[in-house]
This record gives sequence, structure tokens and C-alpha cells, in this order.
Amino acid sequence: MIHLLSEQPSVLGQFIAELRDTNAQSDSMRFRTNMERLGEIMAYEISKVLPTHTIQVDTPLGQATESVPSEQVVIGCILRAGLPFHNGMLRMFDRAGNAFISAYRKHHKDGTFDINIQYVSCPDLTGKTLILTDPMLATGSSMVKTAEALMEYGTPREIHFAAIIAAREGLDYVRRMYPKSHIWLSALDEELTAKAYIVPGLGDAGDLAYGLKVQE
Ligand code: URA
Repeated sequence: MIHLLSEQPSVLGQFIAELRDTNAQSDSMRFRTNMERLGEIMAYEISKVLPTHTIQVDTPLGQATESVPSEQVVIGCILRAGLPFHNGMLRMFDRAGNAFISAYRKHHKDGTFDINIQYVSCPDLTGKTLILTDPMLATGSSMVKTAEALMEYGTPREIHFAAIIAAREGLDYVRRMYPKSHIWLSALDEELTAKAYIVPGLGDAGDLAYGLKVQE
């Protein structure tokens, strides 16, 4: 099931506009903060479709009944661009387990690239709700490769893929590979460049959040 949050106009549009805006992008702290805010909003939206149960709590004046999420959530973060998005989600799901995966594009001379996974740290996923975060869902190959790597840590009850901006191609690929999953997007763009950057997109999310790196 696809959930496109920008379909309903809200303050979320402001945060995405600032992420995309070249005039605002030199402020990397604002860039990271907006990614965190989108993580918080998306986690809140995801929480609406998770099973809940009621609990009773003692207040100073009596007893109150509240609905709380029943699921054990694990939030997966694809390093490094996913870090602020992950942090925002973790502020909402503050009891969640956490998985970290390094996935990077190894570019070839002919313009193609492979996704290399070097590092995985993950709790047991058996029966849990996995939310896999990658802010930029371009071709979908990092998301799918990462999900495949995580399945070695147990079969989750449900998988939620979460991205800030997706390209149609990446969305279609993830949907094809994981038809039963939930896919959460803040915005959906139509194009990819030859180097698989999203257009209009926002550029390189990792560089904008954490600075330029030496190119491999
Ligand atoms: N990763 C990014 O940071 N930006 C894109 O447009 C695609 C992948």
C-alpha cells in the first residue's frame, strides 16, 4: 500500500520545499532538522496504521484509559543520509529497536553502479514491524538490497519502507519486490538522471546533511 503524504497539503510541504531549495541548502543544520521533522511526521502517520491496545494509567486524580501501539518496532537506517530521518522517527517510536546498514553506490566506468553493503547491525526482527528509512528512493536498489540483507535477522510481521522523496521508478521497483509492504513517501517525482539522481529531487542528501566526501 502506498501512502503519499504530500497529497494532503500541510506544513510538511514547507519542510520539503526548504530541503529542495538551493538557497536554503547551504544551511546544513536546517537541512538535517527538516529531515528530522519529516521523520517525526512520517512516524506519526505510520503509527496510525499499527495495531494498538488499551492501557490504564493512574493519574494524580484518577484512572485514564489510553490506546498505545502494541507492536515492537525496529527502525532501519541506511547510512549516512538516513541518519536525521531515522532520528526523527526514533523520537516518536522512542522504544524502537534500531538497525544500521551501510549501502553505497559503487560506480562503474560505463555509468552503471552496484549497491555494496559493508556493515549491518540489526536486532532480531522476527515478528516485529520493520520501518526501513532511506530519504531518497531513486532506483529502489539500495532499499531492496538492504531489505534482503536484513531478512537474515528474522522475518518481520510487516515491512514499512519510508522515503522523503521517491522517483516513480524506485517506487515501482520496491512495490514489485515487496507487494505486501507499506511504502510511505513525502513527495513523488517523475524523473531520474542518467546517474540515478531524482529530478527535481534535491541533490545529494548525504552531502547536504553531512558535507562533501572524497569520491571513490
Ligand atoms: N541519493 C540522493 O542523495 N539523491 C538522489 O537524488 C538519489 C539518491
